[in-house]
Amino acid sequence: MSQTRKLFIKTYGCQMNVYDSERMAEALGGQGYVQTDSAEGADMILLNTCHIREKAAEKVYSELGRFRELKDANPELRIGVAGCVAQAEGEEIMRRQPLVDLVVGPQSYHRLPQLEARARAGQKALDTDFPEEDKFDHLTARPKARRAPAAFLTVQEGCDKFCAFCVVPYTRGAEVSRPAARVMSEARDLVERGVREITLLGQNVNAYHGHEGGLAGIIRELATIDGLERIRFTTSHPNDMDDALIAAHGEVDKLMPYLHLPVQSGSDGVLKAMNRKHSAESYLRLIERIRAARPDILLSGDFIVGFPGETEADFQATMDLVEAVEYGQCYSFKYSPRPGTPAAERAHVDEATKDDRLQRLQALLKRQQRAVQDRMVGREVGVLFERPGRAAGQMVGKSDHLHSVFVESSDLVAGDLRRVRITGSAANSLAAELV
Ligand code: SAH
Ligand code: SF4
Ligand code: F3S
Repeated sequence: MSQTRKLFIKTYGCQMNVYDSERMAEALGGQGYVQTDSAEGADMILLNTCHIREKAAEKVYSELGRFRELKDANPELRIGVAGCVAQAEGEEIMRRQPLVDLVVGPQSYHRLPQLEARARAGQKALDTDFPEEDKFDHLTARPKARRAPAAFLTVQEGCDKFCAFCVVPYTRGAEVSRPAARVMSEARDLVERGVREITLLGQNVNAYHGHEGGLAGIIRELATIDGLERIRFTTSHPNDMDDALIAAHGEVDKLMPYLHLPVQSGSDGVLKAMNRKHSAESYLRLIERIRAARPDILLSGDFIVGFPGETEADFQATMDLVEAVEYGQCYSFKYSPRPGTPAAERAHVDEATKDDRLQRLQALLKRQQRAVQDRMVGREVGVLFERPGRAAGQMVGKSDHLHSVFVESSDLVAGDLRRVRITGSAANSLAAELV
């Protein structure tokens, strides 16, 4: 019988990493590992890393350095690096940080049991292949334990878009879609274990082609599962928002009125230099069509300021686009040069200008976010309750529009999906009462 070992996983980056971390923990379950929530006392530490911006990778190295004491105290401790930094610079990690025993990329983590055995035997283990086989075919079946009411389900991986700033096509490889039948059976399995909301994940989730009807097709099929009440998806690319997916937003009740649709910039010159293959105008027209299908949809986006060559006028065009759209939620970043990407070779905007633009953009986005949130007051929406709040008798959940909602009630439990009336709006959440 294998002995019980403690596994600590720390996850950085996007939701796809969150999903991968779950699957990695399950893959190591067969080796006797159970998850723990602290690095102290763990037999194995896995950092599931993100390479998207400079700081993200640097954080990994500084975090690794902090494990030295733990390793000194417990020579049996094994340290692994997974995710996009592992994929991009696995061999360099091994060289730079001798504490690391194991490196595994996002497409090869189904081989973790073998890699772990090698690391356990005192060897260095590295696998950053993009194997022919589908890792999902080789992963262990998902455990039958009861789950939280909301879950992620990866349906698509990789990216063929090659935006000039982005590492994802290099760290995650080419676009692949999981077959619809596999997605359906994983979804049914999640629902049997108490899941009521599924967020379909993909680096370009709306490029999904594992179903003959594309992403809209799999959404419509998922909507037929009894007990599955809510469907979401992220992240989509504007160029893959086809008519069928737009129509689904108006026709599929279980598809929630929230759409993350990054545009990156409002300047056509910058968009062209970014290799985005859409214009500000085509994006705005797309938003109009989506809002025609689902008028109350809440839009979310990503922005990069200070892309090489971005002028003040370009930046102003981004501000204008934001004004025109009215986002309910947004993420904005200073451009960060990434090794191996085309934009990294170009002349950069100075740091002070980037800081200044980021501040101005974030101030505008924050105002918009708050205005959209404030307008929810008085409205009736659905909330899926997930956990007790800090105050006694309080439950917290997510609204249809993905706002955090607090309700005072003693008879709610996690997993309840109820109609509420919004009664107040605070910095990052809404208050409500049951109707
Ligand atoms: N696949 C998604 C998002 C991928 S990464 C899409 O196409 O939109 C998430 C976000 O990180 C991006 O939308 C972008 O805004 C930001 N990002 C990516 N590379 C970056 C870089 N080099 N510097 C700053 N932000 C970056
Ligand atoms: Fe990166 Fe662009 Fe692909 Fe998104 S679409 S993952 S930003 S290359
Ligand atoms: Fe980061 Fe990789 Fe996701 S670079 S954002 S963890 S795809």
